[in-house]
Amino acid sequence: MLKNFTTDADRICRRARETLLAEFADLSEGVLIVDRDARIVWMNHSYPKRLGLSETAAVIGLPVEEVIPNSLMREVVNTGKPIMLDIMDFGNDSFVVMRLPIRDEAGDIIGAVGMMIFDNPRQLAPLVSRFNQLRVELADTKRKLDEARRSKYTLASLVGGSQRSMAVKDKARRAARASSPVLILGETGTGKELLAHAIHAASPRATGPFVAVNIAAIPETLLETEFFGVAPGAYTGADRKGRKGKFELADGGTLFLDEIGDMSPPLQAKLLRALQEKEIEPVGSNQLLTVNVHVIAATSRQLQQEVEAGRFRADLFYRLNVITLDVPPLRERLEDLPSIAEALTDSLARQLGEPPRSLSDAALAYLARHAWPGNVRELANVLERALLMSDADSLDAEDIERVLPHVATPAPPARPSNTQTLQEILQRSERDAILAAIGAAQGNKTQAARSLGISRASLYEKIAAMGIDSRAGQ
Ligand SMILES: Nc1ncnc2c1ncn2[C@@H]1O[C@H](COP(=O)(O)OP(=O)(O)O)[C@@H](O)[C@H]1O
Ligand SMILES: [Mg+2]
Repeated sequence: MLKNFTTDADRICRRARETLLAEFADLSEGVLIVDRDARIVWMNHSYPKRLGLSETAAVIGLPVEEVIPNSLMREVVNTGKPIMLDIMDFGNDSFVVMRLPIRDEAGDIIGAVGMMIFDNPRQLAPLVSRFNQLRVELADTKRKLDEARRSKYTLASLVGGSQRSMAVKDKARRAARASSPVLILGETGTGKELLAHAIHAASPRATGPFVAVNIAAIPETLLETEFFGVAPGAYTGADRKGRKGKFELADGGTLFLDEIGDMSPPLQAKLLRALQEKEIEPVGSNQLLTVNVHVIAATSRQLQQEVEAGRFRADLFYRLNVITLDVPPLRERLEDLPSIAEALTDSLARQLGEPPRSLSDAALAYLARHAWPGNVRELANVLERALLMSDADSLDAEDIERVLPHVATPAPPARPSNTQTLQEILQRSERDAILAAIGAAQGNKTQAARSLGISRASLYEKIAAMGIDSRAGQ
């Protein structure tokens, strides 16, 4: 009984191997065989007709792509992996195809067979048309996404025509063309991250990935795996399959390392090695991966001082400090303030789903008197709150003052003395006396206060209230 079964099974398998290909060739719309180099070695008679070719003999020996431009047969012989079900385009038609590798007795790939199972398949027509429709939609979405990325982050989105801003943008354009690391320095909220995006967008890597890591936001213990990834099997559990690090994800593009000044010394050493060798080692792996990334680092710390204090490695500092962009604080480029404030008001109104609103001259003048320690981010915040608190088409100084009180008032304009009130005269002479005292004390406020016979605290109060530049006299 068992013996009979074995004999039968052998025979069935042998027959299957001998005849199935021929059966398939008859049943399917076309069969094609290629050799190890993806050259056509055989085609059944229906294939040339289906593809609109004149004759079988003419294509034998040709690389498969010369006959079927979209063919994936080469991939099958190269990888040894079958492609069981696929939709292939040829001209205006779509075909359902299956591709299998052919191995010799030793198991080595010697070629591949491709079968066109359906030609304009009636049963699959709804599926194919849905597939084609989705493909068109996907291409459309991709294009829109690319456009959105491009227009969102170009140098043009960095508003500001002041000389200092223009100089930064000029340097950024040069940084985009270079492959050396870029270091962006500037107080918080000055636009460092925006600038990094813009450099990427202006670089030849614009179509590659832009990957950002905020070092200050990630717990120290997770940073190494975040940067370099984890090899498969390094951990049990969720990460068993391994995970790519940011370096690898940024391959072919830009890696933005935000708040680099917050990086711990051990990780600084590893980063330096990655930058020098252009190779990384995933955690738990002993293999090195070559990566090609443009590194842009940014920090709001005084990095040079961090180096002098021994908190930041000098060698890493010099490696990063090849092209340095110093983004000035907003208070040092007040002439940018109106255009930035207007651009922010426009985009905030749009985000809030409101009609566009403007800023009065008085509102702009009021904004210009604030010191902006939080720079453009703080400005955006103030404007958003002002927009939410007011319904006016044009925001006025009071609308700003409501959300940003205690801004220094400007000196009262000098007017002919006969129209001045007593209070104005007193204010004016108080202001002059304070300025004179600070000048005489060469900016030393303690000394100035003493000579005026008032406390240091009340001198500071008066300075703030009168809108005197606190650096006066220095
Ligand atoms: N020159 C500018 N023009 C328009 N928006 C700006 C400009 N600079 C900064 N911003 C905006 O201010 C906010 C803070 O900028 P960001 O790049 O995050 O600053 P940083 O990284 O220096 O802290 C962002 O919303 C950014 O879009
Ligand atoms: Mg930032």
